[in-house]
Amino acid sequence: MKLPSLLDFPVASRKILVRVDFNVPVDAGNLRDDTRIRRSLPTIQYLLEKGATVILASHFGRPKGIPHEELRLDRVARRLAKLLQSPVVKLDEIVGESVKHSIRQIRKGEVMLLENLRFDSREELGDEGFALELASLADGFVNDAFSVCHRLHASVSGVARHLPSCAGFLLQDEITHLLPLRQSPKRPFRVVMGGKKIVDKIPLLKTLLFKADRILIGGGIASTFLNAFGIHPGRSPWEAPALETAKEILRLAESSNCQILLPSDGVAVHSDTGEVLGAFPVTHFPPEGVMKDIGPETASRYQMALKGAQTLFWNGPLGVFEESPLEKGSLQVLDAVGALPAYRVAGGGETLDLLRHTGTSSYFDFISTGGGATLAFLAEEPMPGLVALEKML
Ligand code: 3PG
Repeated sequence: MKLPSLLDFPVASRKILVRVDFNVPVDAGNLRDDTRIRRSLPTIQYLLEKGATVILASHFGRPKGIPHEELRLDRVARRLAKLLQSPVVKLDEIVGESVKHSIRQIRKGEVMLLENLRFDSREELGDEGFALELASLADGFVNDAFSVCHRLHASVSGVARHLPSCAGFLLQDEITHLLPLRQSPKRPFRVVMGGKKIVDKIPLLKTLLFKADRILIGGGIASTFLNAFGIHPGRSPWEAPALETAKEILRLAESSNCQILLPSDGVAVHSDTGEVLGAFPVTHFPPEGVMKDIGPETASRYQMALKGAQTLFWNGPLGVFEESPLEKGSLQVLDAVGALPAYRVAGGGETLDLLRHTGTSSYFDFISTGGGATLAFLAEEPMPGLVALEKML
């Protein structure tokens, strides 16, 4: 996959609109993790160094076209200014004459950040008029928001129809590191997959069946797979609508060369009191227990199952890692990943949070900033943001 490069893009003395993804997690009003902001710095700094006027545009949360005070980008602008050590001019509008006026006033070394794109309902509708209004703010467009490239939104795919466009450094870095997993993973290729919702994982699971040698399942999605075998661990929730698909995936795994591993034991938490009841075999689970982590036997099996891997992809937590001691299962398996002489990539969903919480980010060669986008890319689904850039070549 070849995308137009920022290094070949004329930017000096031009107004450059940069689509970034500053949709970072927030806790009680504070930014919990600024990885996505940090990872966009090389592109912003490069543009500043080359003498471009930098206009940043991002979404934040899912306000569905209605402005929400807590979803304004002011906090993000403050963090960006701190990281850049340059002034960031945060606007309260997204498009229009007053925005154009403010852009004309930008001083050398300053960057501008527009208001949350999703305060305008036309963004998510992929509205052509909104894309044109955004495009009219600048002379060129840089897409540096890999994590939203699976969306057919105005700022993701629309703007590139109206301006010379290229990929920013973050976006290019994502493609460079994820493409080997998609095209030619070195075997054995092992995958660890957890998380809550199986529906989010189905397309990727179906693709991986024909690429990976082993898929190790944990987290909430494990219960639906166990149900496919008639095993119901206590009161663990499972996704009834996804049951047939889970069965189909297990059938497909039999005919492909991919082995799917499921938990043989799990940590039970009392469904009413929240008390940790201990580890039990999935076939002999306490009736009032909810499985909230893989058990020690499963963690050891998974550690062994990773041995020999040349490529490893990790997606999602294997337990409710935020509630100690329910991070133990993930941590044990992560420790085995840390010792693997393999190409190790993590990404998607809550993965960034899990790695930060367990202090295991250094176990990976690359950590994707994408959630759904990473899964969609690896599942070879259409990515409107990338298609729009490829058309530039
Ligand atoms: C993400 O957090 O995965 C991206 O910012 C995309 O957000 P979205 O799922 O709300 O489109």
